[in-house]
Amino acid sequence: MPDEAWALLQAWLPSNDAPDRPLMTLSTITPAGRPDARAVLLTEYDEQGLYFHTDSGSAKVAQLAAEPHVALTLLWPELPRQLVVRGVAAIAPPDESAWAYRARSPYLQQLAWQNTPAFAELPDSVRREQWAEFAAAHPDGFEQPDTWFGVVVRPTELTFWTPGVGTASRRLRFTRSADTGGWQSRLLSG
Ligand SMILES: Cc1cc2nc3c(=O)[nH]c(=O)nc-3n(C[C@H](O)[C@H](O)[C@H](O)COP(=O)(O)O)c2cc1C
Repeated sequence: MPDEAWALLQAWLPSNDAPDRPLMTLSTITPAGRPDARAVLLTEYDEQGLYFHTDSGSAKVAQLAAEPHVALTLLWPELPRQLVVRGVAAIAPPDESAWAYRARSPYLQQLAWQNTPAFAELPDSVRREQWAEFAAAHPDGFEQPDTWFGVVVRPTELTFWTPGVGTASRRLRFTRSADTGGWQSRLLSG
């Protein structure tokens, strides 16, 4: 990643240990070639890319296995600001996922166990009962389930949208060349 893009990422994103995690829209392509999108939490970022965590049985994981090119869209609710990252998704290293699981709230750690299609179909009263039973059966906390893992999106393009102050909005786009691996930047209209 070029220094300028890395500096902007660091200025725009909260630090990796900040408790409130930013939301990203993860856009993927289905095996039928149609678009799909959903929100995921940005767990952390580094010079390799942006990381999120998910369930191996989810639709997005099947889509990524067939077509790893994705887009991430981040918005700042309180600021007129947008970051769009295009890139290639890969499985994050196991030690990163282990760190990420430990950093999750107890609620999200439990969710990683019980967020299954079968659990979703149960009546709400049974879901509450089974949730409480599972929590009570694990008074010392939860181990990371094998089905929960991390994905790193390695950027091939980063586009930072900023508003104009007394002028037009514009975007600063960094694009990585598929041939040379070198980066180029250019300014675009907003
Ligand atoms: C605020 C919010 C945060 C979410 N964070 C995640 C997340 O970090 N990982 C995840 O897999 N799903 C997350 N979800 C659920 C996804 O949006 C989505 O419903 C789920 O992952 C199933 O997506 P899929 O069927 O397209 O794979 C979140 C949803 C919301 C509303």
